[in-house]
Amino acid sequence: MKESEYRMMCDFLLRRMGLLLTPDKAYLIKSRLAPLLRKHALKDIGSIVEACHRDESSALAFDVLDAMSTNETMFFRDQYPFTAMREVVWPALVKEHGKRPIHVWSAACATGQEAYSLAMLIREAGVKPEMLKLLATDLSQAALSYARAGIFTEMEVRRGLPEKHLSRYFSRQGRRYHIDPILKSMVKFAHCNLITDALARSMSAHGPFDVVFCRNVLIYFAPEERKKVIDRLAHCMRPHGYLFTGAAESPEGLTSRWRAHLFCGKRYWQLM
Ligand SMILES: C[S@@+](CC[C@H](N)C(=O)[O-])C[C@H]1O[C@@H](n2cnc3c(N)ncnc32)[C@H](O)[C@@H]1O
Repeated sequence: MKESEYRMMCDFLLRRMGLLLTPDKAYLIKSRLAPLLRKHALKDIGSIVEACHRDESSALAFDVLDAMSTNETMFFRDQYPFTAMREVVWPALVKEHGKRPIHVWSAACATGQEAYSLAMLIREAGVKPEMLKLLATDLSQAALSYARAGIFTEMEVRRGLPEKHLSRYFSRQGRRYHIDPILKSMVKFAHCNLITDALARSMSAHGPFDVVFCRNVLIYFAPEERKKVIDRLAHCMRPHGYLFTGAAESPEGLTSRWRAHLFCGKRYWQLM
């Protein structure tokens, strides 16, 4: 890949998915995009760059975004957001809103473990499924298809999932673990790019949200894009809604609209 092609690809990724790559990441582009050469019958990475440049809405361009997204996740990742949700946020929302369903959005859900963890948490609390409106979205269509199928490998269910949840909410079929159909029906999966100014409009059919999980995705964005995404999320939320970001991410210093809460020494956020 020539220097100019690298710059073109970085520009494309920044504009289309907010991904900020430093100048030393050419190897990442090469390794992630190599599998697309065969699929699209192209001869080298330079041809992929050119094709994306010619048509940013082509199937190839979407495959590039997919390939460049990092879908690393696990059930009950970092524990504390889920414990805070169960012990503090959910009871506060129920007290405030009574019998109205609570709208929760997993805004970069990857292969679905975050959303299914939330569904399990609510089931465990004895809450009726209809009291939760749970939307899970991602940029990656491949990750979403995996999430929708709700079928996980041994390694995936051994990462973060308590044993009792595994036996209660999964059935083993051969080497795969299928998620319980009730749990599956509690989550609505949809495609959504956080890098779009029309986010609030496109989410209006699902929200406004009482809680947003937007975890371990802001770190990939350029700083100015991070602020825009946080602002867009705020527009999709109810006043005083709650936001969970990754431990290394925070809206602090980006906007003044959020109040920090501490739970077990970790922060989550509430819209002021
Ligand atoms: C590391 S995973 C985080 C998954 C989960 N939230 C967690 O914390 O375990 C990041 C996800 O963000 C998604 N993503 C990247 N850029 C995005 C964008 N512009 N809009 C929506 N999702 C995006 C990726 O496809 C990926 O699935």
